[in-house]
Amino acid sequence: HTPELTPTGKVPECAIAVDVLRATTTMATVLAAGGEAVQVFSDLDHLMQVSESWPAEKRLRAGERGGAKVPGFDMGNSPLDCTPDIVKGRRLFISTTNGTRTLQRVQDAQFVLAGAFINRSAVVKYILEKQPETLWIVGSGWEGSFSLEDTACAGAIAHSICQKTQLSPDEIAGNDEVINAIALYSQWQDNLLGLFHYASHGKRLLRLNCHEDLKYCSQADILDVLPMQQEPGVLKRY
Ligand code: MLT
Repeated sequence: HTPELTPTGKVPECAIAVDVLRATTTMATVLAAGGEAVQVFSDLDHLMQVSESWPAEKRLRAGERGGAKVPGFDMGNSPLDCTPDIVKGRRLFISTTNGTRTLQRVQDAQFVLAGAFINRSAVVKYILEKQPETLWIVGSGWEGSFSLEDTACAGAIAHSICQKTQLSPDEIAGNDEVINAIALYSQWQDNLLGLFHYASHGKRLLRLNCHEDLKYCSQADILDVLPMQQEPGVLKRY
């Protein structure tokens, strides 16, 4: 039985897809480094097919399965590979185990954002400006199940909204998941890297020698960049 944690029913006005380790951290980093856009795919063959029609010097194919780089692709899913000399002016065609699927799941929302710790304040600023009627913060988890790092990031976003609006968690959302996420974030906000070491996907990445990736992903509010969907599956800097 796979737990169904994604809300069902209608799509919200605004959806924030969160995959702290590492897809949405990587997307924010690519756009901050001057990438033209990020285009997401759940299927590797589809990615190859669509990116084929794009000029070779203007594209990068990024693919990850089980945390490891897909053979034959230009890169895996490490945000540390997304430096301006590599990504500037290029479109990143990316497929990852969970993060890109989350974005596809919510792609019919009116506004779709990619959030992580590194760009949390940019996400919160946008939400406070737009005040969407309905907002989902969708943690990607791992293959359908709960993840500590995405829940903590959802909590970080909600916590900041509460602080800036002077509203209580109950007033902004009034559901148990949000209270839970804020509590998790509050307990670990000064040691997010420590939390990642307990997280199952954090441990998977550590086994793949991605300690520096965990460190990078655990930094809050370092990039003032907001990846926003411009057309289904294509995110650009807002
Ligand atoms: C995912 O989408 O599942 C993750 O971003 C995996 C990873 O760490 O590369």
